[in-house]
Amino acid sequence: MHTNLLTAFGLLSFCRLFHLQNTPSFKMKFIDIGANLKDGMYQGIYNGKTENPKHEPDLEHVLRRAWDAGLHKIIITGTNVADSQSALKLAQSDERLYSTVGCHPTQCTEYESDPDAYSQSLDKLIREGGNKVVAFGEFGLDYDRLQYCPKEIQLKYFEKQLNLSLNHNLPLFLHCRNAESDFMRIIKEYAPKLSRKGVVHSFDGTTQQALDLTDLGFYIGINGCSLKTIENLEVLKSIPEDRLLLETDCPWCEVKQSHAGYSYVKTKHDNVKNMKWVPDKMVKSRNEPANIVQILEIVAAVRGVDQERLGSKIHTNTLRLFFPHELAHSDTTNHADGTERAV
Ligand SMILES: *[C@@H]1O[C@H](CO)[C@@H](O)[C@H](O)[C@H]1NC(C)=O
Ligand SMILES: [Zn+2]
Repeated sequence: MHTNLLTAFGLLSFCRLFHLQNTPSFKMKFIDIGANLKDGMYQGIYNGKTENPKHEPDLEHVLRRAWDAGLHKIIITGTNVADSQSALKLAQSDERLYSTVGCHPTQCTEYESDPDAYSQSLDKLIREGGNKVVAFGEFGLDYDRLQYCPKEIQLKYFEKQLNLSLNHNLPLFLHCRNAESDFMRIIKEYAPKLSRKGVVHSFDGTTQQALDLTDLGFYIGINGCSLKTIENLEVLKSIPEDRLLLETDCPWCEVKQSHAGYSYVKTKHDNVKNMKWVPDKMVKSRNEPANIVQILEIVAAVRGVDQERLGSKIHTNTLRLFFPHELAHSDTTNHADGTERAV
């Protein structure tokens, strides 16, 4: 309204000054690419004790904290047919939520009862989900937890889902735990056929594996479980910047005080034990999307780079893999935002 009283230059300087004084830290934009929001912990259920919830369902508070913390999209991980179905349903309730569809290696015995029907159910969910389903997964190999599903069965459904994924034009959301050689042998065979590649999430592998995966065109997802040891932090330094993605894997994989990465955490939130639940506080030992800033803080510090610049780079990586359509016109959108802020 005072535009006519000021030269354009004067107005711009005034706004710059205002901007500097009032918003000293640029508000980071995050996308959590791995959030298990359908986990019982967000219903107050811990250790599977459905008959004895520790507190009322509080996903709305968890999500409010996420949006307040700068998250603007969250991808909910689907880990079997039923879970993928409820993840999709939740995703359909908010335009900022998306989901994945797949069968986790620890759940593969479920697939075994009627493999073709199971594949069809996955297929059907992907088709029903439309643009809400942004990845095929979570699937892969987990040799740390063979008690849930034997190796041979895991291998069979890793391949079966890779085959199935060729019918869909989706990036993959992959899990690999203590299974590097089988995982790499199989993924190398499929990579040329996978047009959009994908991410190996919760990465805790070797530098060699990270480089092999990025050479194949895959991205690497980093969360608290990727930052536990000094070796993990060394591997992190070797990952090409344009292949890095951030996630929480909540309610799992929080950054614990005993982890090597913890000393780099700057943002710490108050929390209470689940018995002492209050709506406005995080629950101790239950991770949530708002904690994603801690992952960025550690990754930037370990790699010795500017946090804001890295965050913005990773945000672009995330759009490139999961939301390429938005990246195509986000350049002009950002420009418009910037201009608006300056005037
Ligand atoms: C995957 O597809 C290949 C090629 O069609 C086939 O030979 C293989 O048996 C399939 N694997 C599974 C586990 O279905
Ligand atoms: Zn996983």
